[in-house]
Amino acid sequence: MLNVRSLQTYYGRIHVLKTVSLHLHPGEIVAVIGANGAGKTTLLKTLVGLLVQQSGTILFRDRDISHLPTEKRLQAGLVLCPEGRKLFGDLSVQDNLALGAFSRKDRQGIKADMQRLRDQFPILNKFWTRPASSLSGGEQQMVALCRALMSNPEVLLLDEPSLGLSPLLSQEILKAIVSLNRNQGLSVLLVEQNARAALKICHRAYVLETGRVVMEGEGRELLNHKGVQRAYLGKGYDKIWER
Ligand SMILES: Nc1ncnc2c1ncn2[C@@H]1O[C@H](COP(=O)(O)OP(=O)(O)O)[C@@H](O)[C@H]1O
Ligand SMILES: [Mg+2]
Repeated sequence: MLNVRSLQTYYGRIHVLKTVSLHLHPGEIVAVIGANGAGKTTLLKTLVGLLVQQSGTILFRDRDISHLPTEKRLQAGLVLCPEGRKLFGDLSVQDNLALGAFSRKDRQGIKADMQRLRDQFPILNKFWTRPASSLSGGEQQMVALCRALMSNPEVLLLDEPSLGLSPLLSQEILKAIVSLNRNQGLSVLLVEQNARAALKICHRAYVLETGRVVMEGEGRELLNHKGVQRAYLGKGYDKIWER
């Protein structure tokens, strides 16, 4: 589905991604864990073309998309739900969702998807005409997730969906992600600070350290790995619901 080879990205002269390779099979949740500043956001932004890669290839459904503009990647089904939600605070929940569909032309499909999301996430109905900024952090994160879903993703790239949320709300977001994966076959590349939760819900995971993949394996395998435990699993909640 997604096959990333030897990706390198710079900010000016600062070399941030140093040959990152990873892949994602259809129907998988793949987690990327790593400390603050490891390059996780840089990786996701490079994948959708918001940052220009210095070298490497990004194959999406067997097609080289490395040189496509962001909008074309979006239309192809590679969709980023960015860190920090980035909703339009003055706009209603409805309008934020509509913006998620801006690059689509299938009006009937858009309408149907909006209704499906309203049925699936009752929180949308509750706040449908309210400005997004009046919602709580957790509610806004749900809206951001739904806005990304309105772009009709084949692969959803999620940047820190649980950032700043209470354990309970984090759990709800992660549950929603697992349910979308299970019931709708959505493939997900998940970046999470809460490594324990991410490793529990993912099929496979990569550990990113200062711009390099230093380890990869099944979620369960990494959860039990002593080095990973020492470096990344010190904190977090234990009772997170498991896949
Ligand atoms: N706009 C920028 N200009 C220069 N350096 C940046 C910029 N954004 C991030 N960086 C640097 O790139 C590195 C990776 O950042 P980032 O991808 O945001 O990490 P993460 O998401 O894993 O916390 C960090 O060292 C950060 O300081
Ligand atoms: Mg980040």
